[in-house]
Amino acid sequence: MCGIVGYLGDGNVYDILIKGLHRLEYRGYDSAGVALVGNDGKINIFKTKGKVSNLEAFCADKNLESKVGIAHTRWATHGEPSDTNAHPHFSEDGNIAIVHNGTIENYKLLKDALEQHGCKFHSETDTEVLAQLIEYIRVTNNCSLLSAVRQALHQVVGAYAIAVLEKNNPDTIIAARQSSPLVIGIGENEYFLASDASPFVEYTKSCVYLKDGEIAEIRRGEPLKITNLANEEAEIDVTKLEMSISQLEKGGYPHFMLKEIFEQPSTLRDCIRGRVVADGTHININGVNDNKEVFLNAKRIVIVACGTSWHAGLLGKYLLQDMCRIPVVVEYASEFRYSNPVITPDDVVIAISQSGETADTLAAIQIAKKAGAFVFGISNVVGSSIPRETYSGCYIHVGPEIGVASTKAFTGQVMVLTLLSLAIAQLRGTMDEETIAKVGKSILKIPSYVKKVLKLNEQIERLSLIFTYARNFLYLGRGYSYPVALEGALKLKEISYIHAEGYPAAEMKHGPIALIDQEMPTVIIAPQDHLYDKIVSNVQQVKARGGKIVAIVNEGDTVIRNLADHVLEVPEMPECLTPIITSIPLQLLSYYIAINKGKDVDMPRNLAKSVTVE
Ligand code: M6R
Repeated sequence: MCGIVGYLGDGNVYDILIKGLHRLEYRGYDSAGVALVGNDGKINIFKTKGKVSNLEAFCADKNLESKVGIAHTRWATHGEPSDTNAHPHFSEDGNIAIVHNGTIENYKLLKDALEQHGCKFHSETDTEVLAQLIEYIRVTNNCSLLSAVRQALHQVVGAYAIAVLEKNNPDTIIAARQSSPLVIGIGENEYFLASDASPFVEYTKSCVYLKDGEIAEIRRGEPLKITNLANEEAEIDVTKLEMSISQLEKGGYPHFMLKEIFEQPSTLRDCIRGRVVADGTHININGVNDNKEVFLNAKRIVIVACGTSWHAGLLGKYLLQDMCRIPVVVEYASEFRYSNPVITPDDVVIAISQSGETADTLAAIQIAKKAGAFVFGISNVVGSSIPRETYSGCYIHVGPEIGVASTKAFTGQVMVLTLLSLAIAQLRGTMDEETIAKVGKSILKIPSYVKKVLKLNEQIERLSLIFTYARNFLYLGRGYSYPVALEGALKLKEISYIHAEGYPAAEMKHGPIALIDQEMPTVIIAPQDHLYDKIVSNVQQVKARGGKIVAIVNEGDTVIRNLADHVLEVPEMPECLTPIITSIPLQLLSYYIAINKGKDVDMPRNLAKSVTVE
């Protein structure tokens, strides 16, 4: 988590850094800070607890002139959110300043050793330890900043993306990464660096994604130089960015989350484009076409992911089992990595991650690769770590997702998993051509169906007023609607802070039914599928206990309409496509409940978009 930005050039350093921090604020917003090498030759650090807007207010009367600077927006790991723990951090003598995204696992050991050498610490952070260590090495060994950074990183265990400034060397930034993302933008006579490319997309489209163990030397007027920890020169692979500035703005919506919910007709169209061909009769997934033998011979599929991506993964299990008749297991990456998992070369491991940077998912990939499995990635962020660490994969192509609560990425992931399942089924011959064509043709209609579902917006906004002050919610679904219930509950709790639980509807009677009363709304996802009659019984069980029911049903439903207190009607689709359609009203319901409660939906408390720590 945390976002870092750096700039070296003739532009307005402070403005570029602040704009960059706003773009990276989704990564954490516990505190923000900048370090600028002023015209007086000193490094000036300005930092405050809270959001980037607090920092701007704090800096309003400061002298911010500079030609080089680094900045940080924090998601606290070591030490509470405070002005003191905010980055950047100085070395004791004020000679170097550092920003860091990641965690230094052996920081305590290093800190104790440095204290024995007389270093004094001012914050509780692991990052200050790194600043002091670099400066200690630089002074003791009388070496350059680059060499001191390299030597320090040899001693460090953990994850980092860092940018370091030196007072006596104002035309240089040293940057390095290990397990946390870092990208360098190359402009005309200027360099940018950031946790993702969004801070510099309007200045340059040329960038270099730093690899694990690489150190970049960014010097004014000189070409970029990259070396590894062993001081060997690395190849510089310049990539052209596809991101556009309009994708990073709210485009008239009050929040990114609402914009992203409403973008889904077009994001799903982008996700489907080129993959459903020949009028819907054929599914074309390059990652499957290029690895036919792997998918033909797979004995088992293991899906690893976290959070919303895990919910998409659970849907992937239903889809892959149904369509391809391959056994599938779905694991939380954070549990998988420490569970001594049994993975063999006959397994295909699918890692799902919007950001492509989730630390636990990356660790799960490494374990799977070591065990000889074929690893396939599903991600949104082009050039992120997961697409680079996996053997093959599929982008969801939904554009940058800025709202911390995942919406369009979830539907994109489910769409890709549906297409992947169809493509594998086509290859293995586990589905007949007619059924594939039926689903394929329906997929082509999804963007227009989603548009229709979004027309429920005002009805849902009104409905949300009834439930704003509920303290608990239960979300129920069966079959394909069960992961949708889990996702609906997660959306509500993360942005409105209302406790919500997702459950398989039939499991309710084994415990949660005890919670049902007039105070607790139950949201039931009940499209016309093969479990419809079963879920009608579950609706009746809730009703019989006086529970308040909100049901997502298909247009024309009469049975549940007569039982539920409120219904939201969505168009009918083949069963395997219903999750995309039914999850959208739940996104809107959470959004409006959170808004009614006055919550910051784009930046919910304690959360960050990209979870690059364990
Ligand atoms: O970037 P990833 O998809 O790997 O992120 C996984 C989770 O952190 C993420 O889905 C999280 O649960 C979202 N806040 C959910 O809205």
